[in-house]
Amino acid sequence: MVSPTHEKEDDDDEDVDLNPLNILQDDDDDDDDQKEEEVTEAAAAAEEEGRNPSGGYKQQQQQHYLQSIDSSVVIRQLPSQGLSFQLWPAATTLMNLLDHHHYHQSNNNNDNITKPLSQIFDHLPCRPLRILELGSGTGLAGIAAAAIIGSSCSVTLTDLPHVLQNLHFNTAANSSMLALRGASVNVAALRWGEMDDMESIGRDFDIILGSDVVYYDHLYDPLLQTIRFFVGGGGEDNSQGAVFLMAHLRRWKKDSVFFRKARKLFNVQMIHSDPPAPGSRIGVVVYCFSRKGLMSESETSNP
Ligand SMILES: C[S@@+](CC[C@H](N)C(=O)[O-])C[C@H]1O[C@@H](n2cnc3c(N)ncnc32)[C@H](O)[C@@H]1O
Repeated sequence: MVSPTHEKEDDDDEDVDLNPLNILQDDDDDDDDQKEEEVTEAAAAAEEEGRNPSGGYKQQQQQHYLQSIDSSVVIRQLPSQGLSFQLWPAATTLMNLLDHHHYHQSNNNNDNITKPLSQIFDHLPCRPLRILELGSGTGLAGIAAAAIIGSSCSVTLTDLPHVLQNLHFNTAANSSMLALRGASVNVAALRWGEMDDMESIGRDFDIILGSDVVYYDHLYDPLLQTIRFFVGGGGEDNSQGAVFLMAHLRRWKKDSVFFRKARKLFNVQMIHSDPPAPGSRIGVVVYCFSRKGLMSESETSNP
């Protein structure tokens, strides 16, 4: 299995590198499409059951340093258990973006580094922020957000039911640091497109986070339905409504289908892009989805 943090150069002009579970193929090839579908189904079934498609059980624990609070988040990965238990590159981008923003803002550097998030944070209500993460995986982005923002936020990490145990583990592993920061982190099941799950979580969030959540095309519609449920919520004191911050590494030509659908429902603004990792041509991009009508069209960017 190729590690999600490894990327390779691809000869195809439009499609891109990395390949979770080595299953992604060129969109234009029928045979490959067939294979992709079969392997994707097998991987999805394995993922759903919490099974390990390749056997074995290996854990990795890594520290992720946060400059803004001079502390580290510790995250356990269980790579052999499937893609939900691995750290994907977009999570690190989201963490770094939040960290740099808060570091430079605390140091009064109101420059281009703080601008991408300032335009969002400056419009949020002056009370503790309520943050929801979709498809948290190992939970790095959400736990880091809680640590960075500290007592002025509460974070709910969500994923498929079988992923929650590792999310609880990673939350507990950081509990002392989170307590020192005054941050609160909860874990809940949220299956995209499942109205019961969404309703039991409620709409009272200001920021929705997602990293590397666009990858299988059968998940586009349930994911969009979920984003639609939460974006624009936020309660009466949040006039802009909740926004969705999504970090994404484009790997497939067909990812553009997701963005085409998304732009029909939301304003989609590109707020940050990482330079490509060595050996790759595309870096992680961060988008802000907001309710239509709240941002001018000139502010939106087409992915
Ligand atoms: C590629 S992983 C990214 C994980 C993490 N956000 C990161 O960047 O490291 C996609 C995540 O979406 C979750 N996911 C997939 N299908 C889902 C669904 N139908 N409902 C909720 N979460 C889902 C997976 O369990 C997985 O944790």
